[in-house]
Amino acid sequence: MMKILLGGALGRMGREVTLAADGQIAFGVDVAYNGQPCDYPVFNGYEQFTGKADVIIDFSRPDALPELLKLAVENKMPVVLCATGYTDVELKSIEEAARQIPVLRSANMSLGVNVLQELVAMAARTLEGYDIEIVEKHHRMKADSPSGTALMLYEAAQKEKGPQTEPVYGRYGRAEKRTNGEIGIHAVRGGTVTGEHEVGFYGSGEQVILTHRAENRALFAQGALKAARYLLDKPAGLYSMRDVVREMLG
Ligand SMILES: NC(=O)c1ccc[n+]([C@@H]2O[C@H](COP(=O)([O-])OP(=O)(O)OC[C@H]3O[C@@H](n4cnc5c(N)ncnc54)[C@H](O)[C@@H]3O)[C@@H](O)[C@H]2O)c1
Repeated sequence: MMKILLGGALGRMGREVTLAADGQIAFGVDVAYNGQPCDYPVFNGYEQFTGKADVIIDFSRPDALPELLKLAVENKMPVVLCATGYTDVELKSIEEAARQIPVLRSANMSLGVNVLQELVAMAARTLEGYDIEIVEKHHRMKADSPSGTALMLYEAAQKEKGPQTEPVYGRYGRAEKRTNGEIGIHAVRGGTVTGEHEVGFYGSGEQVILTHRAENRALFAQGALKAARYLLDKPAGLYSMRDVVREMLG
């Protein structure tokens, strides 16, 4: 049994992870905690945490990152970072922490999206000259856009297309034609959509559309728990869900 410290414990994903973890959550952290009943002790912030855990799973927000990394590095705890919307400066601090502790970060913890990423790379490599457009849809409560997963899929395509490739977010106010080097990224927000990502390759005379639909949040929770287990015996370093998938495939 792992002893997990769960960040964002009272949020939508925090509740899913608590359910899926089957008693393995030993402590929680959440700014919104104000004494409500919970299955485990909850602290208002990482800096207030006193206890001993084997691993941290964080589904809070990027602004928790400095205290989270400080706690993890000081106590040599592996960390699974699941929040999205990190800035470049925050991503740098994650890389720095990963020199001292194992850190796994993924904007999407589901197995399917990580397979989609491989398919996108393959299509981008082989479908020469096709225009690539990414459309993502999420529930109306999502705080960041475009989604971290859309950016992850963009990067998978961009790596194949080369450095001249550029993201174009929406096309409001543009009075010029599409160029070959651009990859369009578009965000739709509404209702209760768990998460949908579509990567379209538009050629002359055909379209290849790769789509992933998340039907519930439990799959992200299961993925985060797999990632935590994976990290327990790993040396310091920056890992991704792709590494977990590769280990699962043997
Ligand atoms: N990697 C993935 O597969 C994946 C899947 C779903 C959601 N997410 C991301 O996980 C994060 C949480 O998503 P959610 O839908 O559960 O959101 P949510 O708003 O329901 O929950 C976030 C929780 O974190 C708490 N919180 C906010 N700032 C905090 C801080 N500084 N310190 C401690 N707690 C803090 C909030 O009080 C809230 O309870 C988002 O960034 C979301 O994009 C990632």
